[in-house]
Amino acid sequence: MKKVVILNASPRHDGNSNHLADLFLSKCNCEIISYNMYDENIAPCIACNLCSKSGKCFSDDCKHIIDDIFSSDYIVFSTPIYCYSFPAPMKAFLDRLQPYYSDEKYKNPAFDRKGFVLASCGKSGKFGIDVIEKQSRIAFIELSASFEGIFLFSDTDKRSALTTDEICKVKQLAKDFFN
Ligand SMILES: Cc1cc2nc3c(=O)[nH]c(=O)nc-3n(C[C@H](O)[C@H](O)[C@H](O)COP(=O)(O)O)c2cc1C
Repeated sequence: MKKVVILNASPRHDGNSNHLADLFLSKCNCEIISYNMYDENIAPCIACNLCSKSGKCFSDDCKHIIDDIFSSDYIVFSTPIYCYSFPAPMKAFLDRLQPYYSDEKYKNPAFDRKGFVLASCGKSGKFGIDVIEKQSRIAFIELSASFEGIFLFSDTDKRSALTTDEICKVKQLAKDFFN
């Protein structure tokens, strides 16, 4: 059976991005491994440079997540937008992917899995989604995942549910992604 790792970046376990993730994952026939980044206590990068010298990180506190991702077929980020970016625990995780960075990987990325991003934000329009997309693209290269797309659930300051059209779109995106 194929495996999907989902990283939930919201502190609200019953929030908008988790509802979006539930809808997206309802279309998959995979083993689902789910992490909430607020439960993980991942230390921020301390710029010790150990990874550039030895390829190792100063801490193993997120190794279990990275090991799961490297043995998965799909990775999904599910996040609220905080100040145009990811919430701090998720950003800490992304910074800690530095040991998986290499110039060569950027020139010739190898895609062993597929990646997708689900985001939600309070404002209407595409508020902050460009930053989330850029950061996700970099992270996916480090995790040997292709960037397959992004869906934004916006305007949550004024609403708590997707429209019927949006629900159909998310289901179709999931179907194509898990195909
Ligand atoms: C600290 C903080 C910063 C936020 N920054 C933004 C922002 O930059 N742009 C935006 O549109 N919404 C922003 N929001 C609103 C959230 O993105 C929005 O409520 C989102 O739907 C929450 O998702 P969740 O229910 O999955 O946690 C912010 C919320 C918080 C708590």
